[in-house]
Amino acid sequence: CGIVGYIGFREAWPIVIKGLKRLEYRGYDSAGIALIGESGLNIYKKAGKVVELENFAEGRDQGGSIGMGHTRWATHGAPSDRNSHPHTSNDGRLSIIHNGIIENYATIKEELEKRGHFFNSDTDTEVLIHLIEEIYKNDHNDLLEAVRLALHEVSGAYAIVVMDKANPDQLIAARKGSPMVIGVGEGEYFIASDATPIVEYTKNVIYLKDNDIAFLKRDELSIKRLDNVVQTPYIQELEMKLEMLEKGGYEHFMLKEIYEQPRSIRDCLRGRIYPNEGRVQLGGLQEYAEKFKNIDRIIIIACGTSWHAGLVGEYLIEEYARIPVEVEYASEFRYRNPIITEKDIVIAISQSGETADTMAAIEMAKEKGATIFGVCNVVGASIPRITHAGAYTHAGPEIGVASTKAFTAQVTVLTLIAFYMAQQKGTVNHSKMVELLTELDLIPEKVQQALLADAIIQEIAAKFKDSRNCLFLGRGSGFPVALEGALKLKEISYIHAEGYPAAEMKHGPIALIDEEMPVVVIATKNSSYEKVISNIQEVKARKGIVLAIVTEGDQTVKAMADYIIEIPDASEAFLPLLATIPLQLLSYHIAVLRGCNVDQPRNLAKSVTVE
Ligand code: G6P
Repeated sequence: CGIVGYIGFREAWPIVIKGLKRLEYRGYDSAGIALIGESGLNIYKKAGKVVELENFAEGRDQGGSIGMGHTRWATHGAPSDRNSHPHTSNDGRLSIIHNGIIENYATIKEELEKRGHFFNSDTDTEVLIHLIEEIYKNDHNDLLEAVRLALHEVSGAYAIVVMDKANPDQLIAARKGSPMVIGVGEGEYFIASDATPIVEYTKNVIYLKDNDIAFLKRDELSIKRLDNVVQTPYIQELEMKLEMLEKGGYEHFMLKEIYEQPRSIRDCLRGRIYPNEGRVQLGGLQEYAEKFKNIDRIIIIACGTSWHAGLVGEYLIEEYARIPVEVEYASEFRYRNPIITEKDIVIAISQSGETADTMAAIEMAKEKGATIFGVCNVVGASIPRITHAGAYTHAGPEIGVASTKAFTAQVTVLTLIAFYMAQQKGTVNHSKMVELLTELDLIPEKVQQALLADAIIQEIAAKFKDSRNCLFLGRGSGFPVALEGALKLKEISYIHAEGYPAAEMKHGPIALIDEEMPVVVIATKNSSYEKVISNIQEVKARKGIVLAIVTEGDQTVKAMADYIIEIPDASEAFLPLLATIPLQLLSYHIAVLRGCNVDQPRNLAKSVTVE
């Protein structure tokens, strides 16, 4: 979910609405807003996107210089008007917006009901504001204290903003496990789940830490901990630029982000590779360079697309640094009592740096003594704060819910990590390293060339757009590429798609192949080329439709496949970076042709801060 709050001298409505639109990637099931203006407290909420809320509130009182808004990704309670935030106390005086899950809400709700509270929604959030209300009324006449005491009684994760209609000069915000940033202006403050709603008003921000509670008045801010210890706010300067958050002439953010990849990969490499010297430099990992010489294994943890990047990382680290790697879904890893020792290095990969399962898996591995590296995109997010060291991917803000440039940047960083470890361990000789880095330096240009296939891909997309299923096959590092290709397609076009190791096809998916089944095969000229050709023949023998991603100039596969898309030739190590590009474009065009909402596919959210 996304939250925005404002207190200051301007009209809150446009700031909050614009902010919610920027945060819609975090969830877009329903949206709501609360403002205190001359007519008192006004709350508007609606199922659906922020624009539905805007339409609903058209012509109603939108005045007030204090307000807060929420865009929801439903966990407890279906997406509906009544379950939308803000929620209010029994007496209607207090209102709240919340991102996260209150795990013990059912018990608290039962007790509150016994004491006469009635509830208007099925959410965990409403329970929290009733609890605050009760403490406020019974024991204290101090809202800040009531919020603090109530938070002591809840377990789970939250980022909340609380407003009191009798007190239009204050906002209270708190976080634990869900992100929250405060923008510091002159005579005004902004609150948001991330900095994107804030950047056009101020560059000065405070990232709240877990268990922080902030008390905001128009010209005054104080922060204390849940245990009542007062904190000195630490103001940081944002590096983000406003144009990074806009579409810049592209029809969708996703397309813009696909086209940004030559630049984002270049940014990711900048200052980190010295091809002539055959040297990789990763400032963030330097302190651990010695450790790489004798580690037993690496565990990579991640979710979704980041997990696919992890699989490419496994291939690269094992190949070049000769260190055994395990890649795990964070959600599985955290619940299965894994064997972790002080000798292990855990690499956590996360675009957002906020994914709840990945965070929890990190905490667990950390407790068991492992060294944790983060590979994250969002600077200053929660995961980079709790890891021992790491390397940012520097892809810039990614707005499209389906990850594109963040994935290739993750793969780039993992390539650098693999080479860096190889350098420390001496597993790749100097001249080979010079060769690899020289080639890596050219990858942004090759990605640019791969993008030139866009028009052909658009034509192919038109042929595939009505398919109901699609199979993606690859071998070696082409396998994670196939998985990622399938994930992209299902995420944004809702076509059922599966990624498979090409050789495994015969153990199951082959049963699905008929003349209507498109099979996308990564068939570039690498070590498994011949084997993949056999797999293509197996598909053709069953009348499947083959779309092959091939190395420029390939004639063999061209003769066999129904369609081909060419990518520039490259060493095996870099193929994932190139082969991913046409698959991103393919999903994009298919989804557009099917009339899908490419940037905000149904039911998904970009930043999943609940488990
Ligand atoms: C969500 C997003 C995916 C993403 C995954 C992991 O499901 O929709 O695109 O890959 O979370 O997110 P992270 O921010 O940890 O990479």
